[in-house]
Amino acid sequence: MQELNQLGDIKNNKSAYEKKPKVYYDDWFVNGKRTLMTLTNEGNRKWNEDHKKEEDEKFLKYIEKLKLDSLMDNKFKKCTFNNFYKTKDNEFYFNFGQFYSRNFEKNKTENNGLLIYGKPGTGKSFLSFCIANYLLDNGIKVIACSISTILEKIREYSSFGDNKMTVFNNELKKADLLIIDDLGSENSSEWVNSKIYEVIDLRYRSEKPLIVTTNLEPDNLKKKLTNKDGITRTYDRIFEICRPIDMNIQPLRIIKGREKQNSFLEDLNKLYNI
Ligand SMILES: Nc1ncnc2c1ncn2[C@@H]1O[C@H](COP(=O)(O)OP(=O)(O)OP(=O)(O)O)[C@@H](O)[C@H]1O
Ligand SMILES: [Mg+2]
Repeated sequence: MQELNQLGDIKNNKSAYEKKPKVYYDDWFVNGKRTLMTLTNEGNRKWNEDHKKEEDEKFLKYIEKLKLDSLMDNKFKKCTFNNFYKTKDNEFYFNFGQFYSRNFEKNKTENNGLLIYGKPGTGKSFLSFCIANYLLDNGIKVIACSISTILEKIREYSSFGDNKMTVFNNELKKADLLIIDDLGSENSSEWVNSKIYEVIDLRYRSEKPLIVTTNLEPDNLKKKLTNKDGITRTYDRIFEICRPIDMNIQPLRIIKGREKQNSFLEDLNKLYNI
């Protein structure tokens, strides 16, 4: 897009043209006056060649900025479909995650979010950050962090006044995808529940997808998010825009922990054998 604009500028703007090297253009003369400047095929090819590196660098900088703005913890930057450790149990979720990511434009238009729930260590966070990293690498704006990070930011920004909070809320609204990891792990209070409601509600009104991960079964999440008045407004909104995905499989944390322990023991044995 950028490149087309630049080419358009040069075609239509004489002074811009005059700053560019002649190599890209054919001049058209009528009655001895230069009236039209067009790109030759060779010029076009050369333009692409000369500007590809520049455009690639611009894109990489853009991705870097998206990643910085995503609020993602360093630990989760390594969660990618390439690094996905597949087991018989989690293969379905690998395929599903890739399918969701590759079809994100459609999922965005249809506002298809996910509520991924299951026991600790099954890979809910890993899967959702794989989706986040896939989309970020493709230039899509994602915010992906835990509920505790969101609540921390709200506490911090509220103390700075309305302006900071408005900017933060706009970021949450603007993102093509918002991922809230570990919802339900927070210590409940009226204040916490009302802030979670505000975040969920602003996302709900933005009509853009939301992915939530939680240890709690849907009914327990509903109870956890319900205020004293007994109205289930937060959970109902999540349930309306997120498809429930049950990830109750063998916890990978234990499988991976066991593997690490075994390889440590093997190393130790080798050491003794020497
Ligand atoms: N598919 C995977 N490939 C590689 N490592 C994985 C995969 N799934 C999970 N892990 C690793 O297993 C551990 C547990 O995964 P994760 O934190 O995603 O689980 P979780 O279901 O979110 O747990 P919790 O409910 O406690 O938040 C982590 O160390 C993670 O990096
Ligand atoms: Mg998790």
